[in-house]
Amino acid sequence: NKENANPGSGKGERFSSSGFILAAIGSAVGLGNMWKFPYITGQNGGAAFFLLFIICLIIVGLPVLMAELAIGRGGRGNASTSFFKIGGNRTFGRLGLLSVIAPTLILSFYSIVAGWTLHYAVQTFSGKLFTGGDFSEQFNDFTSGYMSIVWTFVVMVCTCAVIIKGVSSGIEKFNKILIPGMLILLIVLMIRALTLPGAGEGASFFLRPDFSKLSAEAALVALGHAFFSLSLGMGTMITYGSYVERKQSLGAATFAIGGGDLLYAFIAGLIIFPTTFSFGIDAGQGPGLVFVALPAAFSAMPFGSLFGGLFFVLLAIAALTSTVSLLEVPVAFTMERWGWSRKKAACILAALIFVLSIPSLLSLGLVPELKIANKGFFDFMDFVASNILLPLGGLIVTIFVGYFWKNVAEEVGLKSAWFRIWLFMLRYVAPILIALIFLYSSGLLKL
Ligand code: PHE
Repeated sequence: NKENANPGSGKGERFSSSGFILAAIGSAVGLGNMWKFPYITGQNGGAAFFLLFIICLIIVGLPVLMAELAIGRGGRGNASTSFFKIGGNRTFGRLGLLSVIAPTLILSFYSIVAGWTLHYAVQTFSGKLFTGGDFSEQFNDFTSGYMSIVWTFVVMVCTCAVIIKGVSSGIEKFNKILIPGMLILLIVLMIRALTLPGAGEGASFFLRPDFSKLSAEAALVALGHAFFSLSLGMGTMITYGSYVERKQSLGAATFAIGGGDLLYAFIAGLIIFPTTFSFGIDAGQGPGLVFVALPAAFSAMPFGSLFGGLFFVLLAIAALTSTVSLLEVPVAFTMERWGWSRKKAACILAALIFVLSIPSLLSLGLVPELKIANKGFFDFMDFVASNILLPLGGLIVTIFVGYFWKNVAEEVGLKSAWFRIWLFMLRYVAPILIALIFLYSSGLLKL
């Protein structure tokens, strides 16, 4: 049969239907939802930005998400060979290589922030965070010291352990336990936050739009974030798509994944804004919001070390289900291309990515001179991966599926009106908007 004759990446491994949806939600829901989304929403005026984010998610994110899933399933291969198999042309395979390099780079700094969440969970539960003095000093001391290297290592070991177990007994099982677990934690924390005195003001900052606060810049930030949040442009959804059964409806899966991502971001907002407003903390202060500002709130509430600890566990889970999806991309590639075993691929790549994370780690404090193009190494990696490779990867996907994939209708099997809308978005709307994100975030377009 066709499936066995062409096993593709992961050597013929498959997700179950629900396992696939949960794993893809696990990839999508990450530090992007729990750490970045709240602080960029805070910086860009709250509810109006949230609304923009939802619009971007629907008109650009979902069509590209479905295109990536289709490429993976249609090509039955890793993020590079799938392009080659469908397009029948080596150039496409080479372009697809970008989607293998991007997640490797992303993981080298994403794992650092994931490590922070683990450290904060331990510090909060043990109460040490609250007795350790000024939160911003604690944050700087920790992120610039040796311990953050240790925590990054722990993250890579955990991620590698899940990947070694394979698609269904590793990735799928891990997500099947943690994604529902995360929802329970989110709901507990949301109830806590919404019952704080003055919580209503925070909720209305997040939910009642004030359009005068919007700018063209905010729109591009929202668009870029919709992409990052759905794990697009990085080969992850292509790789996960390659493990999806033929009978799975890609349209339904796309809505479920997009809905899941939005729901988790929505609840995260309903935790963070009521809490910051209730304790008079500035929600627009940027990246330190959850590591510096929220601890102040937790330390002042009853059972703060419990709620704070649970919050950082939540962040850690969100991060780990994403690091797993990032590592799987190069793992699938080396297994298929070079015939490596899963174990060998996972160990070598995890070690390599850890080594790659060291200059980023050092640039945060121990060796601040580690700079490229006037940026610290950490910021440089983030810039190249998130602002250049990600939109470029997304652009390649839309153009490839929109213009070069002849039998795409067969693969996605959408009823015709939906199919036409989808193709229209991929051909005309998404590439223009993604090109704009690219020009803006790479610094070529100034607003
Ligand atoms: N979507 C993840 C988040 O929101 C990040 C991610 C990007 C994961 C790309 C995998 C691939 O944090």
